[in-house]
Amino acid sequence: MGTGEVYETVKTALDAGYRHIDTASFYDNETGVGKAIQDSGVPREDIFLTTKVWNDEQGYEKTLQAFERSLERLGVDYVDLYLIHWPVPNLFKETWKAFEKLYQEGKVKAIGVSNFTISHLSELLVDAEIVPMVNQVEFHPKLFQKELMEYCNENNIQLEAWSPLARGSYLKDPELEEIAGKYGKSTAQIILRWDVQHGIVTIPKSTK
Ligand SMILES: NC(=O)c1ccc[n+]([C@@H]2O[C@H](COP(=O)([O-])OP(=O)(O)OC[C@H]3O[C@@H](n4cnc5c(N)ncnc54)[C@H](OP(=O)(O)O)[C@@H]3O)[C@@H](O)[C@H]2O)c1
Repeated sequence: MGTGEVYETVKTALDAGYRHIDTASFYDNETGVGKAIQDSGVPREDIFLTTKVWNDEQGYEKTLQAFERSLERLGVDYVDLYLIHWPVPNLFKETWKAFEKLYQEGKVKAIGVSNFTISHLSELLVDAEIVPMVNQVEFHPKLFQKELMEYCNENNIQLEAWSPLARGSYLKDPELEEIAGKYGKSTAQIILRWDVQHGIVTIPKSTK
């Protein structure tokens, strides 16, 4: 999406009552997101804003610099959640040190990771001072990552579902349609409710 389309989408979402915006340096849309937030008239403290450090921005110093660039593009002075977008081998632990510094300085309200398996999390936890507060992973009824969910629960890491609707790929699934019919809901609503009932934060996207 171009900056104009991102701006219109995010502005419409905020007008409609969305308060959780998930972006990333890699999405190349932080400028449009930031402008929409500024023009929305919604107080900054009412919005939960997440962004992420991209793979080629990882490492201690590079992450600190990447974070400042994200803040500048977003036009805000803090983010609510900063995530390591993917676990880059041999770098993600250094990146995490920078995240801990940003958190301790109060520049981010929460720090977490994305696309981390149990093995990545265990490696990080060996010497992390702060346990990641969130792990954002692909998670939906056709990709039920039960072991990862249990591991995160045990370690007090909030699991967050990306592509919760599997990009709309099985909204016509007969089993889901049957459940949706039973409760008088859409299949998308059934999936999102399934997330909530598993204690999972869900971040569906729509451009309409
Ligand atoms: N951390 C990561 O590596 C990672 C990776 C992928 C995504 N994410 C995050 O997760 C967010 C959501 O993931 P996603 O966009 O990949 O997939 P998604 O939310 O599962 O699906 C989005 C698609 O579903 C459609 N849709 C939305 N609401 C619908 C409804 N009520 N009924 C029918 N269709 C509906 C949308 O269509 P329309 O746009 O036409 O409305 C869009 O095509 C992204 O925006 C991103 O922030 C993170």
